[in-house]
Amino acid sequence: MLPKNASREAILEILEDEGGLRAGVAARVERRTGVPAADVYGVATFYHLLNDPDAGVRVCQGLSCKIAGCDAEMARLEAAGTKAVYTACLGRCDVAPALWDPQVEAATPAPHFSPSDPDFAIDLLRPDCREYQAFAAARERGAEWVLAELEASGLTGRGGAGFPAHIKWRGVRGQPVAERYVVLNADEGEPGTFKDREVILRRPHLVVEGLAIAAYALAAGDVYCYVRGEFGHVKAALVAAVDEARAVGVLDPAVRWHFVDGHGAYICGEETALLEALEGKRGMPRMKPPFPVEVGFRGKPTLIQNVETIACLPAILGRGGEWFRSSGRTQPGSKLYCLSGHVARPGVYEAPMGVSMRELLALAGGVVGELKAFSPGGASSGFLPAGKIDVAMDFQALAAEGSMLGSAGVVVLNDTADMVDAALTQAVFFEDESCGQCAPCRIGTQILRQALERYRDEGRDPETLSYVADVAWGMREASICGLGQAASLPLESAMKYFPEEFGLP
Ligand SMILES: Cc1cc2nc3c(=O)[nH]c(=O)nc-3n(C[C@H](O)[C@H](O)[C@H](O)COP(=O)(O)O)c2cc1C
Ligand code: SF4
Repeated sequence: MLPKNASREAILEILEDEGGLRAGVAARVERRTGVPAADVYGVATFYHLLNDPDAGVRVCQGLSCKIAGCDAEMARLEAAGTKAVYTACLGRCDVAPALWDPQVEAATPAPHFSPSDPDFAIDLLRPDCREYQAFAAARERGAEWVLAELEASGLTGRGGAGFPAHIKWRGVRGQPVAERYVVLNADEGEPGTFKDREVILRRPHLVVEGLAIAAYALAAGDVYCYVRGEFGHVKAALVAAVDEARAVGVLDPAVRWHFVDGHGAYICGEETALLEALEGKRGMPRMKPPFPVEVGFRGKPTLIQNVETIACLPAILGRGGEWFRSSGRTQPGSKLYCLSGHVARPGVYEAPMGVSMRELLALAGGVVGELKAFSPGGASSGFLPAGKIDVAMDFQALAAEGSMLGSAGVVVLNDTADMVDAALTQAVFFEDESCGQCAPCRIGTQILRQALERYRDEGRDPETLSYVADVAWGMREASICGLGQAASLPLESAMKYFPEEFGLP
């Protein structure tokens, strides 16, 4: 129970306790926190799960769910008189078409995995280890040793941007400010991605140990774990692991652990939007610089790291940074790839960084039908044609192809896929999830979606798409964050590789 004078930071939690934005709730939150009701209302309406708590069953309309028949699923629910609403990706692409009822806490069935392998940093099928030997070694050998091993490992962020982890760690450690934070980004909302879910469900102690190492090396007093709201069972697994580790005394008792729910806004996976959400505000990305390592949570130095990134730490310290570096094929480390869509065995497959799409498809039991295209790293990565099946699935090689590895949420499309529909699915997603803060993204995502609908519904006249390149340029150049900068890529790449479907020569 939160105190009566709970501050602004608590308003999302109070709204959650109240079951969302129902009549009278904003005024009650004002009485408890002092935050004006209008402001509370403004915050609550930003978050899908708070704004419309009685919307009923959520039907995922992410790309994998779209091709698996989410529209038929919606029709079935409506015919049965069940209240239902479409929603952005639910992080359950492996069980497409995915449904989620906020009133029913439902665990996710286990997807397929790659067989256990000692050369994997995470190895989802290995029993989770509760000994925290890497954390003990860190405390024995000191923070500088941790940072040196991290640098030697070449670990880059697994949340999407692929930024070198050691630079961020040194960035926080070097700040002349005692109050510092470590934040775990478990918001996992990129369509096609469900790996962080499985890391926390299967290897929660790897995550907790990685966070404990980060808090120690950066002298942070607080660890915040931000877990997407649709993943209640995932958050519970993380809380249980922290409780277990505390009970056996392997954690530093001076470090405070906090667990915060997301509330159904994809943009809150963007690190500065996440910080805004933690501070009880609308999750709108901040202008960078300053970066969170300098000015982060509550204006203090903050390390924000993806679940998979942080879970690599125990292996890096346990087996050495050089071992990790050499375990990748084209870039350091092993990597978790999520495969869904038209594949025989949707799942999470760990492989050396730089594995090809051809090899990943073999791991996932092959394509159902004939491969036509794939989206290599979530909606933001656009599409590549079947001919790119041998490109290395790493950050550099995919960037050279005009795509990105992103979160490695790979969606596979077979020869039945209509690329206009596929591009439209992604356009709808970005329009729905744009935070609306900057005009190029807010208006650009709407224009692209409208142009595609007109093209599809009004005789497939290529003239309706004639301004796509100009709008896309404006979005890329002038959007504040990665959402707006990448939102045009699905359409642009589909037009580039499948011109005949867009009436182009
Ligand atoms: C629109 C958008 C959504 C994002 N969503 C996520 C997410 O769900 N999970 C995540 O870890 N990173 C996400 N990111 C990347 C984060 O901003 C940030 O780079 C990441 O949390 C840093 O951790 P890493 O270096 O370990 O990858 C997103 C970025 C953008 C632009
Ligand atoms: S680019 Fe889009 S999502 Fe990002 S800040 Fe601007 S409006 Fe918000």
